[in-house]
Amino acid sequence: MTGGGGGGGGGTRQVCASCGSEHPETDPHARCPACRGLLEIRHDPPPQGGNALRALFDARAGVRRGPLASGVWRFTEAVLPTAGPHVLSYPEGNTPLLTSAPVAAWTGTPGLLLKHEGHNPTGSFKDRGMTVGVTQARRIGARAVACASTGNTAAALAAYAALAGLRALVIVPRGKVAFGKLAQALAYGARTLLVRGNFDECLELADQAGERLGVYLLNSVNPFRLEGQKTIVLELLQQLGWEPPEWIVLPAGNLGNTAAFGKALREACAWGLIDRLPRLAAVQAEGAAPFALSFREGFARRHRVEPHTIATAINIGNPVSYDRAARAIRDTNGVVTTVTDDDILEAKAVVDAAGIGCEPASAAAVAGARRLVREGLIGRDARSVAILTGHVLKDPEIVSHYHRDREPPPARANRPIEIDARLEEVERVMNA
Ligand code: F0G
Repeated sequence: MTGGGGGGGGGTRQVCASCGSEHPETDPHARCPACRGLLEIRHDPPPQGGNALRALFDARAGVRRGPLASGVWRFTEAVLPTAGPHVLSYPEGNTPLLTSAPVAAWTGTPGLLLKHEGHNPTGSFKDRGMTVGVTQARRIGARAVACASTGNTAAALAAYAALAGLRALVIVPRGKVAFGKLAQALAYGARTLLVRGNFDECLELADQAGERLGVYLLNSVNPFRLEGQKTIVLELLQQLGWEPPEWIVLPAGNLGNTAAFGKALREACAWGLIDRLPRLAAVQAEGAAPFALSFREGFARRHRVEPHTIATAINIGNPVSYDRAARAIRDTNGVVTTVTDDDILEAKAVVDAAGIGCEPASAAAVAGARRLVREGLIGRDARSVAILTGHVLKDPEIVSHYHRDREPPPARANRPIEIDARLEEVERVMNA
């Protein structure tokens, strides 16, 4: 085992979080080949220093073509400096940072901003991880890629594998994936397995397939995925002129994103991009909240639960990135909180009716922000950013159920009205 970059990238290597062994960055295993622990990418600090690095990233912000037009590869020094000709980019990222008076008013904090990751090519933040994961798959010469998923990773993997001409296998829990996501996996041509079981069982299966069947595993177990997802944070810091917000609030399921955010912030501070750390707030659905349970006990032990939430994206009971996400919360003086399914549905109705729209798991971030404002943790004058992780069209069934079918109608239900084709009927409705 060696330090240094086997692919010629002197400054990047993989380090096992469990046994500490080091591996070249082109080692083809998604987990530590010595002990099967989770790997972490370590970059030497970019030599430029913070000011020059910020200037470099800012100078690329207007690039329109090629990999540097991507909101991931613009930050290549922080992501995968040696990817070179292997880069496979849609492009992705460059998502908007929005203000919304109705959403901010509902949460009780006027300074709330929304980073909308639903504006990525397949409609979720997963594209940021997948561009790096599939780039790495090409680098190591993988012929097939695989993932377990609650839906969005499957959609992203299917699309990026198709772009790269790689075979794709996605393993999802039958009946527990939102319709838009399953449709994408099928449309983009991934071999799609519907497992009679839950997500945690799917991940176990994908892990075994990665080990025994020679497919390259692209779940967030894979450390290259997290390098791409770090750019959500880098891009939002850049959009704020490198002035960190006080809080970043995000939904948490398998905890890859929480881990990626922690790493992004640690590196941004160490490399001089920012001079203080925002606090992270990870939000879980009450029925799928093993991480919140651990947080309440000071991370004394890891919990597993049988998960049940309408936010299918985060319906996860045994999150794989537990350790690295716990570190992210500790390092940023962060918190983990929970929201009920009703809170999620109400937050979603508010975000949707504001003209912005998001999927249920994303609305958990907004509901979580409201809870933390009410508890006095997020100050009313704080500048904070909630991450909308996925697009409103990912889960059309839940929208239809909420607005058309639910009895009694929720306060924010927008019932459609059936009429005969006569103007008086339109007039009657307009005057009602
Ligand atoms: N929001 C959305 C829309 C997601 O799809 C996910 C995860 C999360 C939040 C939570 O992120 O797992 O990094 O804590 N979706 C995964 C998937 C599990 O398979 O698409 P996390």
